[in-house]
Amino acid sequence: MRIDAITIFPDYFAPMQLSLLGKAQGQGILEINIHDLRSFTTDNHHTVDDTPYGGGAGMVMLPEVWGLAIDSVIADEATLIVLTPAGTRFTQEMAYELTNAKQLIFACGRYEGIDDRVRQHYSADQYSARGIKVLEVSIGDYVLGGGEVASMVMIEAITRLLPGVLGNPESLVEESHMSEGYLEYPNFTKPQSWRDLSVPEILLSGNHAQIAKWRATQAELRAKKNL
Ligand code: ADE
Repeated sequence: MRIDAITIFPDYFAPMQLSLLGKAQGQGILEINIHDLRSFTTDNHHTVDDTPYGGGAGMVMLPEVWGLAIDSVIADEATLIVLTPAGTRFTQEMAYELTNAKQLIFACGRYEGIDDRVRQHYSADQYSARGIKVLEVSIGDYVLGGGEVASMVMIEAITRLLPGVLGNPESLVEESHMSEGYLEYPNFTKPQSWRDLSVPEILLSGNHAQIAKWRATQAELRAKKNL
């Protein structure tokens, strides 16, 4: 999978070189390219925003600089993801769907967002004929300073589902068997007693059927509590 993120703060994406993501890039499973939006400006001040038509607080990001940046990376069959608190809520289901994309482009807006004509332009027939899709996505019901952290959340959730990225793919199988939010049961490791707290007896029993039953009940209780 190829991932392109466009941002005015490329340094935000340093963690993408760490851990499993860094390794997957080394193995050629994944290619992550970070692009500095400002390098696509054409004026001396490297302007990326201006005041909103119609008035109001804040600044809106200029369509042309975004158009130039996106044009420089977009390929057939790409999915362009515009991060905004007003978008469709990102879910595990969406993460699974997006693993099928050949290229994901993350447009990380700042300020009051990106001129809406960018979304309109790349949603037009000339792009859908090339298999290009545009999604406006929110990672949750809160407002971040920009789309950078939101796109890293999405990148981590999506790429760990790609074959070869996770150290232990068994954990994916277990996750996908748990319905509705795949909330897990509580886990324990050594020692058996820690600060007066003991590991539940059933987990020491060796009775795998009983253990599975106990875990299912615990996962359900957790799910209910978190509603
Ligand atoms: N940009 C600002 N807030 C956001 C959110 N909650 N999700 C995605 N992008 C955002």
